[in-house]
Amino acid sequence: MTGEHKLEIISSDQVAMGVFRIVFQSAELAYESKPGQFLMVDCNIGQGSNESVFLRRPLAVHRVDVEKEQISILFQVVGKGTLALSKATAGDLIDVIGPLGRPIEIDSSVENIVFVSGGLGIASLTSLIDVAVGRNLKVTLLAGARNSYRLYPSQLLPRGVTEMTATDDGSAGIRAPVTHLVSQVQEKTDIIYACGPLPMLKALSEMAVDGTLTVNTIGLLESQMACGLGICKGCVVDTDLGDKLICLDGPAFDLREIRWESQFSPV
Ligand SMILES: Cc1cc2nc3c(=O)[nH]c(=O)nc-3n(C[C@H](O)[C@H](O)[C@H](O)COP(=O)(O)OP(=O)(O)OC[C@H]3O[C@@H](n4cnc5c(N)ncnc54)[C@H](O)[C@@H]3O)c2cc1C
Ligand code: FES
Repeated sequence: MTGEHKLEIISSDQVAMGVFRIVFQSAELAYESKPGQFLMVDCNIGQGSNESVFLRRPLAVHRVDVEKEQISILFQVVGKGTLALSKATAGDLIDVIGPLGRPIEIDSSVENIVFVSGGLGIASLTSLIDVAVGRNLKVTLLAGARNSYRLYPSQLLPRGVTEMTATDDGSAGIRAPVTHLVSQVQEKTDIIYACGPLPMLKALSEMAVDGTLTVNTIGLLESQMACGLGICKGCVVDTDLGDKLICLDGPAFDLREIRWESQFSPV
């Protein structure tokens, strides 16, 4: 059940430029967390922190290991909260609320699945990739980043994933936005799951509208979240089905249903 948990850090390491992974021991969260879900993380760690971080930060449940009863988070240092988290070490306790958000379930008819990750979008997609590989689906990951140093290391992906990369500077894969790779794989694809910066998700929506993208595409949206619990209404997104809350109704939405022209707060 969703609740507040004090989790002990088993390990913390840097896996790419400015990107950190923290592994926690938690039987409860390992059994309860599902792909697509996230935690609201209190970034005030240890007694010694001299500057407090107001409000919890939303971070995806990156990976789940039920056998070891562990879960992990993966984050890019972008500000005060993630900087504080990057300094946490094994043995530290971190307070989280979760798991939150609607779990994603892959339809039983799906055989070929494509993931599109922009930047740290991979953090939210990996647990779903693990499930897809576990079901022996044909899994392709289109991974985009500013440069090769910022890409999630391929060796951390489960075996069986076909990876194609795109970088802004051409240091890995093609030199282009990651969305340019979609046309190469979509013919035999049943569904696409995408997570990354808002312009990337918007570009995929536009491709769906102009007919370049013909596959059903689910986007995991991000926004600043004050509560993560449906209380503050700060994460509203305008959709064809009315106003939705990213924290309660999402973060996964059919990209064709998002009304991009309206004002809403994803960053
Ligand atoms: C459901 C959900 C899951 C997420 N999962 C991950 C994850 O697994 N890994 C990860 O690295 N990030 C994830 N994010 C984004 C993460 O929450 C922000 O990067 C984080 O809150 C920034 O906190 P900060 O204190 O370090 O930065 P702040 O000082 O709060 O902000 C620094 C910069 O980051 C931007 N920012 C702040 N909050 C967000 C946000 N929620 N989304 C995007 N940009 C933001 C600000 O506009 C500012 O430019 C997720 C967001 C949501 C909503
Ligand atoms: S973050 Fe408060 S309602 Fe969604």
